[in-house]
Amino acid sequence: MRNVFENEIPHIHFKDVSFSYPGKKENLIFKCNFSIKQSGFWMVVGKNGSGKSTLLKLINGIIKPKNGIIYSKANIGMVFQNPDHQILMPNCRSELLINVNQNISNYEINKKIEYVLDQVGLNGFEKRPVHTLSGGQKQRLTIACALISNRNFILLDEPTALLDQNNQLKVLKTIKNLTSDHKKPLSALWITHRYEELTYADAVAELKNGFLSRWQEPSKFQNN
Ligand SMILES: Nc1ncnc2c1ncn2[C@@H]1O[C@H](COP(=O)(O)OP(=O)(O)OP(=O)(O)O)[C@@H](O)[C@H]1O
Ligand SMILES: [Mg+2]
Repeated sequence: MRNVFENEIPHIHFKDVSFSYPGKKENLIFKCNFSIKQSGFWMVVGKNGSGKSTLLKLINGIIKPKNGIIYSKANIGMVFQNPDHQILMPNCRSELLINVNQNISNYEINKKIEYVLDQVGLNGFEKRPVHTLSGGQKQRLTIACALISNRNFILLDEPTALLDQNNQLKVLKTIKNLTSDHKKPLSALWITHRYEELTYADAVAELKNGFLSRWQEPSKFQNN
């Protein structure tokens, strides 16, 4: 199915959004306001348990806010923090195939599979059973799935946590290129604890006390 938002710049807006998990009195997210109105590479930092993964789940609608409004005009894809929570199929090719979101020929599908596997450094892994992949290879497979899905807004939850430095840089550069492409702009919201990654961002914000700070230049966060 073609998506109506395919050629539009995705747009997300939080207005006074609050959220708490069932049984918890305190708000984990509290009167949170922010917007992403341009394509680009957006990064979010924050301490363990500050609610970063929860924020992504609110954005893509897995959970609903207790109060406030989430406005979203985007075709959203997600790379979860733990690849084991996401991969469904027995081998790399079949996992990629269930993420192809377009009516395209087998020839085009095969070309895309080859392209996305190359983008994450998994060339030649097409037939590989998923249970034989290492943690970092699984993480890169989920990123390849997000790339093949043709979404215009990708949420990535610590996507390099399991990757060595080579693969970390490869994935960062891939996303940077896609978010800088003016013909078909992609937006990526990337959560990280690895501060050296922030230099790739167009803008960075910190989630703290339930609230996302304003978007700032990456250099402002370098010495934190
Ligand atoms: N389904 C749930 N039910 C109850 N509490 C939850 C649930 N999911 C997360 N939490 C709690 O909400 C808080 C925020 O969790 P979240 O996973 O969003 O944090 P995070 O910032 O992504 O942390 P990390 O850096 O460790 O990934 C934590 O205290 C966590 O224990
Ligand atoms: Mg998390």
